[in-house]
Amino acid sequence: MNKSGLEYDVYIFDLDGTLTESEPGIINSVQYALEKMNAPVSDRQLLRPFVGPPLVYSFVNTLHMTEDEAMRTVRFFQERYRRAGYLENSVYTGIPNMLRKLKALGAHLAVATAKPKEFAEKVLAAFGLDGYFDIVAAPMDEDEAKSKERLVRKVLAVESGRAVMVGDRDLDILAAKACGIDAIGALYGYGTREELESAGPVAICETVGELTKLLTGSDEVMPGAFISLEGCDGCGKSTQGKMLAQWLETRGYEVVRTREPGGCDVAERVREILLSPDTKGMTGICEAYLFAAARSQHVREVIKPAVERGAVVVCDRFVHSSIAYQGAGRGLGIDAVREINAIAVDGCLPDVAIWLDVDPALALERRFANNNPDRIERENAGFMNVVREGYAKIAAMDGTLTRVDASGEPEEVFQRVVGALKGIL
Ligand code: TMP
Repeated sequence: MNKSGLEYDVYIFDLDGTLTESEPGIINSVQYALEKMNAPVSDRQLLRPFVGPPLVYSFVNTLHMTEDEAMRTVRFFQERYRRAGYLENSVYTGIPNMLRKLKALGAHLAVATAKPKEFAEKVLAAFGLDGYFDIVAAPMDEDEAKSKERLVRKVLAVESGRAVMVGDRDLDILAAKACGIDAIGALYGYGTREELESAGPVAICETVGELTKLLTGSDEVMPGAFISLEGCDGCGKSTQGKMLAQWLETRGYEVVRTREPGGCDVAERVREILLSPDTKGMTGICEAYLFAAARSQHVREVIKPAVERGAVVVCDRFVHSSIAYQGAGRGLGIDAVREINAIAVDGCLPDVAIWLDVDPALALERRFANNNPDRIERENAGFMNVVREGYAKIAAMDGTLTRVDASGEPEEVFQRVVGALKGIL
């Protein structure tokens, strides 16, 4: 064991089938290439062995092509993969957490993949993994792609200390052994148990969780993150929340999508009272306490446990809504509402609160598209303007609320949302 309690100093990961679930993009692109070669294969199952090993090798060995035909097919493959295939991919859930933990313990991390360097780097960057690795060993030409051993040696030439290779195929394990280092099989990828066992790894892990425990020596997870989405009614936060959850999931995060008021049984019941058009006589102070009461349950039952187990919570609205709606909108005052909520939130505040700011008139239009407005949505436009001013005040006062311009198409707004998250994930 080294001084941080890790068994190894250098951790070398295969990419496809070990860090990312790359099958869709690879198989779609192989099918495209085979069609171009007038040799279509519609059964995707038959093409599964193409995920991982060098493509030329697979075309020759699996489809019995000549080397020359295989090279031509690979060029068609690359044409589609470069355009669309590399994005038809996702990171296995738990991988970012594992990499973060290894990094925090001082490990050196590397990738050794048969994927051409151009594509390997594109995938790592597109899925937010590029920052973790000290070196990416990937082939610059077809010749280099043929030998995983050469790629592993590239890593070992620059990284010193005890190394281990993690991969999902026998070629990964055999390459590591040829280099004299230990290998661990990732059975959640594309290889079979028999294939991995016959290559002789020191261990086989069935899940990313098992692998994390084996590599880091503990079950403990790094805390996740808490993101809240804020704004006036009709600002588009549900759409953005959905897009954000999906974006995070494809990057390997466990995502808990929730909302306020609500998010758990007790709080959903309080939501019914709060939003029912029948509770017309409710005072602002009663409203503030009810939102805080629902929040206190939601924090303890859902948000805190999720963040503690390493998940990313994406919550529609949180305490900033109370400050803007009850503090500013109902005139209770920002400080009074903060105070009401202090015990409710129990120190659990968003790592990033994103305020989707949009012209209340535009939001109003979107609200009118909703033909069954709730009690608060029935407030007049003047109320929503005051709420917006409330958000603006909070954003100006402290760094807890980040304004994002929410005008324009959902995809444009989403790019701004992602920009606001830089640094927390
Ligand atoms: P929703 O329509 O976004 O689910 O939110 C329900 C309504 O509740 C919305 O009009 C905003 C309002 N609200 C507050 O007034 N204070 C709060 O603390 C929260 C969470 C929501």
